[in-house]
Amino acid sequence: MITFEELVKYAKVTGFVYQGSEIYGGLANTWDYGPIGSLLKQNIKKAWINKFQKETPNNVLVDTSILLNSRVWEASGHVGGFSDPLTECRACNNRFRADKLIEEFDGTNADGWSHERMHSYLVDKKVPCPSCGKVEWAPIRSFNMMFQTNQGVVQETSSQIYLRPETAQGIFINFKNVQRTARKKLPFGIAQVGKSFRNEITPGNFIFRTREFEQMELEFFVKPGTELEYFAYWKEYCMNWLKNLGLNGERLQFDDHKPEALSHYSNATTDIQFKFPWGFDELWGIASRTNFDLNAHQKHSGEDLTYLDPETNERYIPYVIEPSVGVERLFLAFLANGYQIEELPDGTTRELLKIHPALAPYKAAILPLNKKLQGDKAWEVYNLLSKYFDVVYDDTQNIGKRYRRQDQIGTLLAITIDHQTMDDDTVTVRNRDTMEQIRLHVSELKNYIEEQTAF
Ligand code: GAP
Repeated sequence: MITFEELVKYAKVTGFVYQGSEIYGGLANTWDYGPIGSLLKQNIKKAWINKFQKETPNNVLVDTSILLNSRVWEASGHVGGFSDPLTECRACNNRFRADKLIEEFDGTNADGWSHERMHSYLVDKKVPCPSCGKVEWAPIRSFNMMFQTNQGVVQETSSQIYLRPETAQGIFINFKNVQRTARKKLPFGIAQVGKSFRNEITPGNFIFRTREFEQMELEFFVKPGTELEYFAYWKEYCMNWLKNLGLNGERLQFDDHKPEALSHYSNATTDIQFKFPWGFDELWGIASRTNFDLNAHQKHSGEDLTYLDPETNERYIPYVIEPSVGVERLFLAFLANGYQIEELPDGTTRELLKIHPALAPYKAAILPLNKKLQGDKAWEVYNLLSKYFDVVYDDTQNIGKRYRRQDQIGTLLAITIDHQTMDDDTVTVRNRDTMEQIRLHVSELKNYIEEQTAF
């Protein structure tokens, strides 16, 4: 398995990810996605939407605002409770999450501990400051992770609003709108993909934990009493989605939360963990959230958010199952899973991104063997295919080097235009993983690529 440093270097050198604001010296823990990185992100989102909405007739998609009425966050509990336990080293003034310090010190899980208990632990066990090594911990206080901003030209307190820390609440507050306009009966789901913002105290591990990220969330509404059945269903569904997209099953595991570690509103929660280069860590959270959110919004807004069951004529607030995953975490997992240095039979090596064809940034590279003789024909093939797929044209350096460049960034097929193409309109098509070549007529390419990249 490649190391974390190798993975980060690979992502930066190839143009998947750049340091954010780089020419100004950067902005800590922000990242920009380059030409192939933005395609990979798009493909991940497309694969998620395909399976969580498009091919699931019970589910619909929404796109709600990042800026919401502040009362949404009061109702959801984020204003009062969405905070991390923050401590400061009095010797060097660096700030840390107390629960993370404890976990990294000896593996102890401090979830649910009081601030006093965490502070005593840091002092009694002499947990050293990761920056300066001293043990001079200030008392712990709550740090709210929501980003605040102001709406309007005058910075009055009344105009203070927040950037959403999750996309889920935009779904809950539109439950009634969607149910009515899409005429949905339970069980049904509302899916959303979009940016979320959290002022994390300790972002890090490259793109794993950042302050700005994209979430893909499904809120699947069910009749109370059936939620654990659907919880089990979505748990398996999410795991299969990951495996079908090529993640190695040995690098995936469920981390079922113990009853005493569940949030007060949840009656079942699990995380799908992936074995990142630093070890198993959370990829995807799946929670059975009862009717906590809809109930809270009904109370705070005064709007009736009940559902009239057409079969029993009962009115109730639906329960919800929520699978919630970050696009960038998946991105990192797919790179970590697929990047390899392969030894070839002739003793040489090649860098390879063995990623599912549906996720490959480019489906094909169009390569004229001789730019002068076959360049125009190659552009013709490019123009034909670029209507349907992301393809790339490359006519620099020898063909072997061009193959290697495409292997390195996961391009599935290399389509070479040679002298024979000029006579009979056939091309060679080389597969990234097997390196085998076949000869196809140009008119067969569209169907062939479609078949090879289906998901
Ligand atoms: N609505 C539920 C919710 O937001 P969460 O466990 O806080 O639950 C869900 O987040 C997922 O979002 C995580 O499993 C992770 O994939 C992603 N995520 C959360 N915080 C993140 C961060 N700071 N950076 C990148 N991804 C993050």
